Amino acid sequence: MRIAIVGTGYVGLVSGACFAEMGVDVTCVDIDSEKIEGLKKGIIPIYEPGLKSIVVRNYDAERLHFTTDLTSVLNEMDIIFIAVGTPSDEEGNADLSYVMTVANTIADNMNKHLLIVTKSTVPVGTSYRIRELIRKRLDERGLNDLQFDVASNPEFLKEGAAINDFMSPDRVIVGVESKEAENLMSRLYRPFLLNNFRVIFMDILSSEMTKYASNAMLATRISFMNDIANLCEIVGADVNMVRRGMGSDSRIGRSFLYPGCGYGGSCFPKDIRAIMKVGEDVGYEMTVIKAVEEVNNRQKGILFHKFNRYYNGDIKGKTVAVWGLSFKPETDDMRDAPSLTLIESLLKEGVNVRAYDPAAMQEARKYLDDRIYYATDIYDAANEADALIVPTEWKEFRLPNWSILSKIMNNHLVIDGRNIYNKEDMAAYGFEYRGIGQK
Ligand code: UDX
Repeated sequence: MRIAIVGTGYVGLVSGACFAEMGVDVTCVDIDSEKIEGLKKGIIPIYEPGLKSIVVRNYDAERLHFTTDLTSVLNEMDIIFIAVGTPSDEEGNADLSYVMTVANTIADNMNKHLLIVTKSTVPVGTSYRIRELIRKRLDERGLNDLQFDVASNPEFLKEGAAINDFMSPDRVIVGVESKEAENLMSRLYRPFLLNNFRVIFMDILSSEMTKYASNAMLATRISFMNDIANLCEIVGADVNMVRRGMGSDSRIGRSFLYPGCGYGGSCFPKDIRAIMKVGEDVGYEMTVIKAVEEVNNRQKGILFHKFNRYYNGDIKGKTVAVWGLSFKPETDDMRDAPSLTLIESLLKEGVNVRAYDPAAMQEARKYLDDRIYYATDIYDAANEADALIVPTEWKEFRLPNWSILSKIMNNHLVIDGRNIYNKEDMAAYGFEYRGIGQK
């Protein structure tokens, strides 16, 4: 079986590398020639643990190929995956221009049966739009008898754990409308079945909806817990205990119940806006999801408010150490990161920011230029700081040397956006501590 994956972003590159690792002949396609040339030399454009070795190994074994030219390889393929970006446009719609450009290229050049699979997260109905576009173009080209299939195969991988998520997912969702497409997708995923997961086949619209609904549910859990955490603070309860208590109910489960300074990243914020828009377009208001976004926007301001409240608003000219910039650990992704909300508020009020992140320093420069100081390590960041604020829970922040910190910091205040420290320990080291959802 030969497959092409168009788009070498997170989803496309990880999928391509992992399919190749399972013995499939994969061609990854991208219009960015610099990216493609880099990939051939083993230069990985994203920070993802474990990805480089899989890419290099499979490229050397000639199971994984890279090209900028979809047209020349198109008709050698059985399946074409579309895995290009679907960013939010100004109104919150998923911008489908990249997806549709790929569909047009396929329609203009295909001359044999192909299965065209949407892997990008797309609004419900997009695979049908792709099918209509291709059918129309084929008819215009006089290829009325040429048959093809479309399918939907949303991707659920998490940044930072992408390889494992792809190799051993909880489930794979495939939306199809013909037995032929179902058989092809079954064959493609068969090598993974040894890892004990299920492929769930369904209709295409339900498959597209499953992706949005899953992300919206996860984001809902986070915003729900953030709301509970804020209430815990006011009434004197401890959200860490509440979380443990709730999570032991098997109907609720333990994961995605961690309160913090809000969710960020390339998926949740964009997908939440997109599903609301899908509802709006058909005259249905997604009430819960609207509240999820509102709570998250408020939560992203919480670290600044805690700092500002501590100093009673007298913060101009103060210095803050920020540990962690990426939207979560194990990635350099800064998209919609809560750290950006914090830092922009601090800068606006004339506070000096000294930031450190193990992976995202270069990415951060794209957003913050030279408006902040980029520290060489956590201690450099904390030097003469009036507070230490932690928006991202990188492992290397968990056990710092508090005696060094107490010597170099101006004031012993820690504002912990991810509840990685505990109050008693902090008090023992002589630090004033503010977590999320604790008294
Ligand atoms: C998410 C989905 O998990 C994945 O299935 C989908 O394909 C893409 O979107 P990702 O964006 O990589 O993946 O990040 P994830 O690990 O899910 O975290 C998202 C955000 O939620 C982060 O900002 C994280 O800090 C926050 N989060 C997560 C919490 O605040 N609390 C939690 O309990 C879990």
